[in-house]
Amino acid sequence: MARFLIPVETRAGETRVAATPETVRKFRALGCSITIESEAGIRSGFSDKAFIDSGANLIPQGDLESWKNSDCILCVQEPNKNSLSKLKEGATAIGLLSPYGNQSLASVLVSQKISAISLELLPRISRAQSSDALSSQANIAGYKSVLIAAESLDRYFPMLMTAAGTVQPAKVVILGAGVAGLQAIATARRLGAVVYVSDIRPAVKEQVESLGGKFIDLPQIEEKPEESGGYAKQASEEFLSAQRKQLSNILSEADVAICTAQVPGKKAPRLISEEMLDRMRPGSVVIDLAVDQGGNCADTKSGETILRKGVKLIGTPNLACSVPNHASSLYSRNLLSLIEPFIKDGEFKIDLEDELIDSSLISLEGEIRCPKLMNYGGIKP
Ligand code: NAI
Repeated sequence: MARFLIPVETRAGETRVAATPETVRKFRALGCSITIESEAGIRSGFSDKAFIDSGANLIPQGDLESWKNSDCILCVQEPNKNSLSKLKEGATAIGLLSPYGNQSLASVLVSQKISAISLELLPRISRAQSSDALSSQANIAGYKSVLIAAESLDRYFPMLMTAAGTVQPAKVVILGAGVAGLQAIATARRLGAVVYVSDIRPAVKEQVESLGGKFIDLPQIEEKPEESGGYAKQASEEFLSAQRKQLSNILSEADVAICTAQVPGKKAPRLISEEMLDRMRPGSVVIDLAVDQGGNCADTKSGETILRKGVKLIGTPNLACSVPNHASSLYSRNLLSLIEPFIKDGEFKIDLEDELIDSSLISLEGEIRCPKLMNYGGIKP
C-alpha cells in the first residue's frame, strides 16, 4: 500500500494544503494510505477532524519518522531541506517545486536519491488540463487582483447614472492575457470596467475580445516575439521598448493596471517604467502579479503597497494564497488527477513512458533529468 504524506506548508505566507478531505477519500478508495500533519489544512478551512473522518492518519507536525516511512510526499511548495532530507531513498516528492535555477533542491534530490515531480513543468496539452496547477492557481490570482484593485481605487468600477450626474466607468489595462489575465478581464468586465489588454501572442486577441476586452495591437516593428507550447518567449529589448512607448499613452488615461505578463523561467518583462508611472493619474492603482519574477512595473515590492506620487503600487505575489479554501480544493484535485493513473492496487509507480510524467519529472531516484533548467552541476540554464 503506497503511503502518502501531506505536510504543513512551511513557506512564509503559504496558506494552502496539498490534500482535502475530498481527495483523501479518493486516495483511500484507490487503496493508498494518507498521513497528514496536524493542522496542515487549518489555514485553508479544513479541520483535523474532517481529515480523520475522511480516512487520513493524523501525526504531529515535524514528526520526521513519518517522513522516513513515506513513499510519496504531496506538497504545495517545496518543503524545507531538513524535512526533505529525511525522505527515504526512492521516495517521491510532488508539488510546485520551483525548479528553475533551484540548485539547492537538486542537491537534496541527488544526495537523498529521491524522485521529484514539479507541476510547473507539465506540458500544456489537453490531457494535462485537469492536472494543470499553474492554471488553477493563476485563475484565482487573476480574479483576486481585480477585487484588490477595485477596493484600492478611489473611483467606482461601473458606469453609473445618478441624480448627481453620470459616473464614467473605470479604465483597466491588463498586461498579459494568459490564464490570470483572462480571468482578470472577465472579473473587471463583470464589475463594469472598460478593459484594455496587451499581450504579445496574437492568438489571444480573439479570446480577449470574446470576454469584452479591447486588444491593444502589437507594436509595428519587424521583429515579433516567438512562442512555444502556448507560452510566450522572451521579447527583445527593442520590442519591449516599442511596447512601452505604445502603452505609455494608454496608461496615462488608466485608473488601474494589472500586470500578469510572464515568460516561464525568465525575468518578467518590464512593461511600465518610472517615466510611464509619472504620467499616471494620482489615485490610480497598479497591481503587479509578476513582482517576484522581477516585476512588470518599476518600483513595485513583493507584499508591499507603495504610494508613489499618488499612484498605488501593489506587489502581490502568490495571490492564490488569499483564497486558500478553493485554491487548495483545486490544487489537490490537480494532484490527484496527475497521480491517479499511476496507482494500481494501491501502489504508486512512476511511468516514464507517460508524457506528463516524463515532462515534469525533475529527478528519478536522485538522477537530475533537467540539470540545465535547475542550473545544477555547473550547467548554465
Ligand atoms: P504565463 O503566466 O507564462 O504568462 C502570462 C501571459 O503573459 C502570457 O499570455 C504571455 O503571452 C504574456 N506575456 C509575456 N510577455 C509579454 C509582454 N512583453 N507583453 C504582454 N504580455 C506578455 O502564461 P500562462 O497564463 O500560464 O499561460 C499562457 C497560455 O498557455 C494560456 O493563455 C493558454 O493559451 C495556454 N494554456 C494552455 C493550456 C492547455 O492547453 N492545456 C492550459 C493552460 C494554458
